[in-house]
Amino acid sequence: MSDWQIYRRLLGYALPHWFMFCLSLLGYLIYSLGNVLLADLMQFLLDSLDDTVKVTSGIVSTIAYHFYDAGAQTRVEFARIAVPLAMVVIAATRASGFFMGNYCMSWVARGLIHSLRCELFNKMLVAPSTYYDSHKQGELISKITFNVEQVTGAVTKALKTVVREGLTVIALASYMLYLNWRLCLVFMAVIPVIAVVVAYVGKHFRRYSRRIQSSMGDVTQVSGESVSGYREIRIFGGQQQQRARFRQASQYNRVQNLKMAFADGLSTPVIQSLLALALAALVWFALSPDILQGFTAGSLVAFLTAATQLGKPIRQLSEVQSDIQRGLAAAEDIFAQLDLPEEADTGSFEVRRAKGDIEVRGVSFAYPGSEQLALDDVSLDIPAGRTVALVGRSGSGKTTLVQLLARFYQVGQGEILLDQVPLADYRLANLRSQLAMVSQHVTLFHDTVYNNIAYGSLANSGKEAVVAAAESAYARHFIESLPRGFETTLGENGGGLSGGQRQRIAIARAILKDAPVLILDEATSALDNESEHRIKQALDNVMANRTTIVIAHRLSTVEHADSIVVMDEGRVVARGNHQTLLQEGGLYAQLYHQKFAD
Ligand SMILES: Nc1ncnc2c1ncn2[C@@H]1O[C@H](COP(=O)(O)OP(=O)(O)OP(=O)(O)O)[C@@H](O)[C@H]1O
Ligand SMILES: [Mg+2]
Repeated sequence: MSDWQIYRRLLGYALPHWFMFCLSLLGYLIYSLGNVLLADLMQFLLDSLDDTVKVTSGIVSTIAYHFYDAGAQTRVEFARIAVPLAMVVIAATRASGFFMGNYCMSWVARGLIHSLRCELFNKMLVAPSTYYDSHKQGELISKITFNVEQVTGAVTKALKTVVREGLTVIALASYMLYLNWRLCLVFMAVIPVIAVVVAYVGKHFRRYSRRIQSSMGDVTQVSGESVSGYREIRIFGGQQQQRARFRQASQYNRVQNLKMAFADGLSTPVIQSLLALALAALVWFALSPDILQGFTAGSLVAFLTAATQLGKPIRQLSEVQSDIQRGLAAAEDIFAQLDLPEEADTGSFEVRRAKGDIEVRGVSFAYPGSEQLALDDVSLDIPAGRTVALVGRSGSGKTTLVQLLARFYQVGQGEILLDQVPLADYRLANLRSQLAMVSQHVTLFHDTVYNNIAYGSLANSGKEAVVAAAESAYARHFIESLPRGFETTLGENGGGLSGGQRQRIAIARAILKDAPVLILDEATSALDNESEHRIKQALDNVMANRTTIVIAHRLSTVEHADSIVVMDEGRVVARGNHQTLLQEGGLYAQLYHQKFAD
């Protein structure tokens, strides 16, 4: 994307705030005119000192002399009142213009950042699983927090400076042109040189900014890991390692920032010197007899004042470069994120409530970027209402299969059908509304127990249903003994609960959903035998009229499943019920007997 494209796209976000933008422009216009008038005031003051000079130019003096009554007062007497008065009025007007310009521009910039940040966040909610597989969590979070804030710099500070100082430069330069255009061109000769310096430095700024961003991603990543894994770090003595990793990320960030500061720090004095050179040339030319003739003392001083005043905005315009480059680098990255494809949702088929017939036909699948097949020609039939258990060694592809069922990934070969309709034909949200899942890694939110069970689309289930679901998940008793019962707020990912308690809340959530297909991926792995037994009893009712897929390592939990599917290295190697599989004496029998041998 070219700079111009990035800017245009950013500007698109500002469009809804066009009114505030115009107000801001008006404010800055007032401010820059105020600057011109303050330079012009010098002319008024100096010309008033000498009664013999005829006032020929000067905006303030022309207006002021309308009120001059030559009979009643001398010019000095008049100026003594008029100049201070004009000074106060101009300064006050300029100040209000400054406020109006700045505040309205902040309004626009903040609005822009807000939309951008929300859009980026919303994008994450619809990004495909592969997006999460290929990015570090810290990197993603830092995009929302750090990168967006970098754009703020470019937009707020840069827009303000560019508009305000740009207008000031234009206004002052026009004023100088009006006073003496030849002399003005002498001064302007330095502008292309400054432009070259600015462009050269800018290229470097961009490179450093990109590195700073990625290093902030690393900083966030390492700190996030260190917070969530503080126990492992201490038990395994990982402090040294974490410290080194963090130090490295932070150090890299420091070096890149320093490089940027070096370029920034160097460019300002260079530009200042160039301006001083131009000013020196200006004075030299201005004092030449030819040019001096055309000037009154007042207009000469006004011209030089304007030229001196021009230095500050030009310098500020060049300094804002670093913010602009940071912002452009960040915007580039953010737009690249926004342009990534969303989860494919091409299907249009919808069903109110599926029966729950699941058919897996010759499915092969490899994770993106992986050579190895996670599923190899898997075929499976699960009639509606039945309970099927998936068993097999770790890494045999059980979780992968249920992930495909929820369409977290696209099936490579073959197809999966729900009620005889290929999954790909369903509207994604509709398909997922037919599934309730307790995944291998339970996720709870920083919210109350109640809201964790009645989560998302279940929010309006009603108190009774939530309590009943908790009862079925054998969770009601422990929830009610929490300090505030169902209203107890959980820490991040269920902090404050035991592993088994977390699982039971996740099971309650799945039960509450009352979906035609229930998937339990190691849902009771953290429970004691008694709790598991009770949940199984309660679940018997829940499973009775829905298709259930149970994944478990503890074979005792799947003994009573209607059918058991044994997987190994991505393939289905056997299927049957507990008795037949034991008699066959294959992998299942092996796994089963190992259990008792242990
Ligand atoms: N996101 C992923 N990206 C790449 N490969 C993956 C990913 N998730 C799993 N795999 C690989 O796919 C294979 C099957 O993994 P899967 O999670 O389905 O196993 P599983 O049968 O559920 O094992 P477990 O009983 O340990 O949960 C494994 O070899 C694993 O390394
Ligand atoms: Mg698994």
